[in-house]
Amino acid sequence: MSGVLDLVRDDLRGFAGYSSARSAKLEGDIWLNANESAWANPGDVQASCRRYPDPQPQALRERLAGLYGCSAEQLLIGRGSDEAIDLLVRALCVPGRDAVLYTPPVFGMYAVSARLQNATALEVPLRDTNAGFVPDIDTIIATARQGNAKLVFLCSPSNPGGLSIPLQEVEAVASALRGQALVVVDEAYAEFADEPSAVSLLARYDNVAVLRTLSKAHALAAARIGTVIADADLITVLRRCQAPYPIPTPCSTLALEGLSSSALELTHGRIATVRAERDRLRFALASRACVRHVYASDANFLLVRFVNAEAAFQTLLAAGVVVRDQRAAPQLQDALRITLGTPEQNDRVLDALTTLEPAA
Ligand SMILES: Cc1ncc(COP(=O)(O)O)c(C=O)c1O
Repeated sequence: MSGVLDLVRDDLRGFAGYSSARSAKLEGDIWLNANESAWANPGDVQASCRRYPDPQPQALRERLAGLYGCSAEQLLIGRGSDEAIDLLVRALCVPGRDAVLYTPPVFGMYAVSARLQNATALEVPLRDTNAGFVPDIDTIIATARQGNAKLVFLCSPSNPGGLSIPLQEVEAVASALRGQALVVVDEAYAEFADEPSAVSLLARYDNVAVLRTLSKAHALAAARIGTVIADADLITVLRRCQAPYPIPTPCSTLALEGLSSSALELTHGRIATVRAERDRLRFALASRACVRHVYASDANFLLVRFVNAEAAFQTLLAAGVVVRDQRAAPQLQDALRITLGTPEQNDRVLDALTTLEPAA
């Protein structure tokens, strides 16, 4: 048994979870053990939904493991990485006792899941430097130690900050907190970045977990396929805490099709387009008088400070362009986050903002 299981809640370590009809290893050709209908729904043209799905569709699990460079046993598929975040917080944090550390401004679900579990939130703000928003590694380690953190969420590339965290910094946190906390590296945007995945740290640090998703670069947000990659024993525990049949058959079928070699080839081309557009839009926006600062980004969005963010938001909206208002987030009172679209859509952003420029 691996040491990381010591981080799981005592009361859940031996928990068997729900024993579903699909999990029993039985053979037969007439299945009358799950109270399913004997006939397909007339709307179910493929007749793929009459029976409950495999809780962890094996073909998809293997495909994802191949994609992310881990074994199938180290990987759990969930309903987006959102579910993975929630599962980790529930399985590791004793309500009212343990803490979750994250680094604002950052993706909001770490805080939401901590709140739902009544886990203490430890916030270590990112530092706004010349390079961009970066984590304060020493303060993260010290705060996690003092505050009883069971989970440390590192978002790389960070949403909305945009920058990747160098692997040696992730390793420094994992090394310092071994035996105390699981370091969860959220790599939702990793396909757009150059930094290697923290999956490579798993062999040496059983207190590292990595989150990946098909929602961003793979264009399957509505299929809700996210994964957590971690120590195989921890994955078994998380599976027992998960809903009985989390992955709908149409979603796993679509995900497999979306990861075929021809689909992956197209996806890689689109990632290259996003990266080129990221440079083009960043450069173009930086030259605008209405823009105070455009942050460097390793992801598929740009974080932009405006002289008048309200005017920029409303101007874009009037032109039919909806961007993410970040002004309520700490340190971002004048910022909007703009997802990179097609080159034509990005031109619409630039055109719309032209109306904010002073007359020549
Ligand atoms: C950093 C980060 N993690 C996770 C998610 C959730 O992704 P999923 O669709 O896999 O639940 C998002 C979505 O915006 C995100 O920005």
